[in-house]
Amino acid sequence: MRVLQLSAELFPFIKTGGLADVAAALPVALRDAGAEPRLLLPGHPALMHALEGAEALAPDTAAGPLLRGQLPGFNGIPVYLLAHESFERDGPLYGHADDAARFARLGAAAVRLCEGWDLGWAPQLLHAHDWHAGAACAQLAWSRAQLRSGTRSLFTVHNLAYQGLFPASEFPLLGLPAGWFGLEGVEFFGQLSFMKAGLQFADQLSTVSPGYAKEIQTAEQGCGLDGLLRRRADALHGILNGVDAAVWNPATDPALPTRYRAGQWAAKAQCKDALRREFGLSTSEGPLFAVVSRLTEQKGLPLVLDALPELLDQGGQLVVLGQGEEAPRMAFAAQTHAGQVALAQAFDEALAHRIYAGADVVLMPSRFEPCGLSQLYGLKYGTLPMVRRVGGLADTVVDCTLEDLEADRATGFVFERFETADYRRALERAFTLWRKPTLWRQVQRRAMAQDFGWEAAAQRYLALYRNLFQ
Ligand code: ADP
Ligand code: GLC
Repeated sequence: MRVLQLSAELFPFIKTGGLADVAAALPVALRDAGAEPRLLLPGHPALMHALEGAEALAPDTAAGPLLRGQLPGFNGIPVYLLAHESFERDGPLYGHADDAARFARLGAAAVRLCEGWDLGWAPQLLHAHDWHAGAACAQLAWSRAQLRSGTRSLFTVHNLAYQGLFPASEFPLLGLPAGWFGLEGVEFFGQLSFMKAGLQFADQLSTVSPGYAKEIQTAEQGCGLDGLLRRRADALHGILNGVDAAVWNPATDPALPTRYRAGQWAAKAQCKDALRREFGLSTSEGPLFAVVSRLTEQKGLPLVLDALPELLDQGGQLVVLGQGEEAPRMAFAAQTHAGQVALAQAFDEALAHRIYAGADVVLMPSRFEPCGLSQLYGLKYGTLPMVRRVGGLADTVVDCTLEDLEADRATGFVFERFETADYRRALERAFTLWRKPTLWRQVQRRAMAQDFGWEAAAQRYLALYRNLFQ
């Protein structure tokens, strides 16, 4: 199966969140499962500099220029970069005034590849990720309507909250027939929606956990698109993300001061000591809680801040790595409780690894969470996740209830409602378990034994791809 994966991010070159991790791990897993993936990405400087063996495809008026080459770490999987000047800006990939034009152009490049732009290779399937690749699904549908290509499409939603909304006046950039700007097309309350373009026109839809696949069909979490998602429910699948074991494994992780496996708790304790020193935290017998996330409304930082007194009173400490609108309040807390609370306002991959290893609990009290990778990394590193029962968090963490502890199924702490009282009770459960070290170890072992490998996810995606040709 020849699959063109279209995404805006790719670990380790350009990453703002979990999308980058998925976009990097999935094609390798697909290839290992026998598929023939290639990648198409915007020509951001970080990618352009890394591209090896670059060859330019013949010029095309609708898109381009397009380079084909390879990226280190991708085992020879061919990569196309849209080397357009609008992507050749350092700094953030999104949030530019010409985003609609930039990502419409990226979509056009994807479609040209489906139409045979690269003479030696045309995809049977376009796998488009998030709003940045939504336009491509509509553009491909138009190409097919004109019998210019036969490529099918799968659109994967990583986060419905980011929709790629633009003024209606930008619609012509997509090169679609005028009638497609309407209720049954890419129009969303008078605006142009790239997300809706994907949801409306892709042959199949998926999102990154079974839980979120259900939630986005409700008014509460549907971000205004739940009606459309309910209508397309038969085409919508929930496929849980995996963990890339080549990157996330405490036994081999080069970022850690000491590497460890389940049972090597002294080595994990050394990671904790080193992390405390790094953040200037005092020594303590209590558990070390951590947040590694975009500090946005989604991630539930208000709960952490509201219940900070209880966390500290019981001897806990907190390290936070992240940037975003909640950072100032967190910075204030770190100042007030110096030695017990610390904040690094940065995007720092290696530090994230050291935190997952050195902390005891990783906090993810999200309002909503399509899948979540931080809690999966926590599990893998024996750092128990504390999560809200929502989206992919609910699908991946088992609470320390009495019965799940007894059955040795528990892997973390789960609370129900987005309310401080519920979160506080989960904190209490964590402190209670902390005072029972044997049980804590049992839960750590169970957490580390969870298998969230990419193999299973790749098989599910492959089955979905094949369905499109039956
Ligand atoms: P989301 O994609 O919504 O941000 P995920 O949990 O799926 O949430 O993925 C977040 C990814 O970004 C993880 O790989 C996490 O370790 C990483 N991450 C988030 N914030 C930072 C940061 N400040 N520095 C380094 N890595 C970060
Ligand atoms: C999004 C979601 C996150 C998910 C990630 C990768 O950014 O917020 O929950 O894990 O995409 O799919």
